[in-house]
Amino acid sequence: MKRTSIVDIKDLVGETVDVYGWVHTRRDHGKLIFIDIRDRSGMAQVVFTPGNKDIHELASQLRSEWVIHLKGKINARPDKMVNADIPTGKVEIEPIELEILNKSETPPFPIDTNGLEIGEEHRMKYRYLDLRRERMAKNMVTRHKLIKFIRDYLDDNGFLEIETPILTKSTPEGARDYVVPSRLYSGSFYALPQSPQQYKQLLMVAGLEKYFQIARCFRDEDTRGDRQPEFTQLDLEMSFVEREDVIRLNEELLISIVKNLYPEKKIQEIPFPRFSYKEAIEKYGTDKPDLRTDKDDPNLLAFCWVIDFPFFEKTNDGWTFTHNPFSAPKPEFMDDLLKMENIGDILTTQYDVALNGSEIGGGSIRNHTPEGLKAVFKIMGFSEERINQNFGHMLEAFSFGAPPHGGIAWGLDRLVTLLNNEPNIREVIAFPKTGDARDLMMDSPSPLDQKQLKELHIKIEK
Ligand code: AMO
Repeated sequence: MKRTSIVDIKDLVGETVDVYGWVHTRRDHGKLIFIDIRDRSGMAQVVFTPGNKDIHELASQLRSEWVIHLKGKINARPDKMVNADIPTGKVEIEPIELEILNKSETPPFPIDTNGLEIGEEHRMKYRYLDLRRERMAKNMVTRHKLIKFIRDYLDDNGFLEIETPILTKSTPEGARDYVVPSRLYSGSFYALPQSPQQYKQLLMVAGLEKYFQIARCFRDEDTRGDRQPEFTQLDLEMSFVEREDVIRLNEELLISIVKNLYPEKKIQEIPFPRFSYKEAIEKYGTDKPDLRTDKDDPNLLAFCWVIDFPFFEKTNDGWTFTHNPFSAPKPEFMDDLLKMENIGDILTTQYDVALNGSEIGGGSIRNHTPEGLKAVFKIMGFSEERINQNFGHMLEAFSFGAPPHGGIAWGLDRLVTLLNNEPNIREVIAFPKTGDARDLMMDSPSPLDQKQLKELHIKIEK
């Protein structure tokens, strides 16, 4: 199939091209019919004149979102008809052949607006139409470019992209797990990963040294503007590193992304300022401060690192971790950890990175000895038996020469949201869930039939 992308016709005056796409808008002036034809690359104007009777007749039937193939000649527009707002604004298409490839029902909402004026439930139900709008298509393109940039950058820096399982085991990362019943093992369940945390550490034990993944994570927690039940992390882990190494790599990558993909944006301060957790709380009342000096500037990016978090916090009946049970304490607190002393004063190697008041990532240097990791769970009041049951595999792995290692994960959806100046992460996810965790397009979650339930050994309590 010979096909010219619509955006390319701007340089093809005098030539005959075949374009394929959707009828974006149609203006019927009786004699003259104007349509805007749209494909992923852009939009162009087509002018049907009564001279060519058959095509003119066919064109009068066209409606919004019909799919057409058009053979036509590219003409320069008269000066006063030039539209400076679109890349193809200096040319128009004179049709030679028109073929209707598919008709369309009238769309349930306009597609030629930014869509933010439309009820979101409506947009979600017809997401495939919502994604046709220019703003949403652009979000998909920039997200793709950002992920490709990350892949290339990390590849250049010696990282391997490695996939880790989705059917896995429940892990304690602070949120509720999504679980999958096992058909073969009645009463047993897989859990979907809240993050690849344990697998990536095991890849370090495996000697792979530098890992990353564009990883899907699942957390059964209340959905908000910056939270989805399933979301995407840039997850990475490195061996033989200290906190500074991980921070440096990530800061450089973030700066490169902005410089290369968002050149119109300005990073307020480089190197990114750093605050201890204590300083951040005292100065800003939050551990993800919005440091922008001008909050009306959509192109200002204020990154910062927050470090030196307390490792543990008090619960009603003991202690729990504040961030990640697999983190190492700062080296000067290792003794206290192992002796289980001064627990409230132990600081973790955790580092968070915030952007314009949003936490876009977090990580730490890990406890790579079995004793260190065990001490964390002991402080949390876990019995020897529970530690072995839940984390025996990690303790055992660490007993086989685990290298010192550390890493980080970014909330990729959050980063793209902020870089694209979008109001929430649903705008940069192709098929997000609603605020109440439903997929309105697929109508999920949905009940299973009796046969399936029986196979899974499940009885539903009404
Ligand atoms: P953490 O739980 O902090 O760390 O997650 C890392 C980053 O992921 C983003 N994030 C989310 N984004 C959208 N929806 C959610 N529900 C959601 N939850 C978290 C945030 C957050 O900073 N394994 C560790 C990382 C590590 O230590 O290497 C982890 O998952 O931007």
